[in-house]
Amino acid sequence: MSAKHIYEAMLTGPQNMPTFPDSTMPLQQKQDIIAYVEHTTNQAKNPNYGGLTLGSLGPVTEGLFGWIFALGALIGIAIWIAARTPKAKKS
Ligand code: HEM
Repeated sequence: MSAKHIYEAMLTGPQNMPTFPDSTMPLQQKQDIIAYVEHTTNQAKNPNYGGLTLGSLGPVTEGLFGWIFALGALIGIAIWIAARTPKAKKS
């Protein structure tokens, strides 16, 4: 996302977004917001030190990962244990 793109959105207010003309938000403040957004999203200035990013999509992929792998592993262990009970071995 470029500075121009962010500035344009603040002036035009896409869809339900309010507009931020210079009378309500001075140019300096808009520049500060753009600088902040650019800083926080710049990988070089703000590298990601975390572990697996899982596509950086947030809770959606994290939840999916949790359900598939964590729950999958737990179900697998439960099946493995259940198959080794005396009751399961008899039949
Ligand atoms: C001043 C701070 C803000 C900045 C820098 C900003 C920036 C942006 C940008 C870059 C877009 C994408 C425009 C595009 O698709 O080309 C956007 C869309 C949008 N913004 Fe904001 N925004 C701000 C404040 C707000 C506020 C306060 C609201 C609502 C109360 C809002 C609601 C929306 C909505 C509804 C969209 C359209 C979403 C869509 O396309 O699906 N924004 N904004």
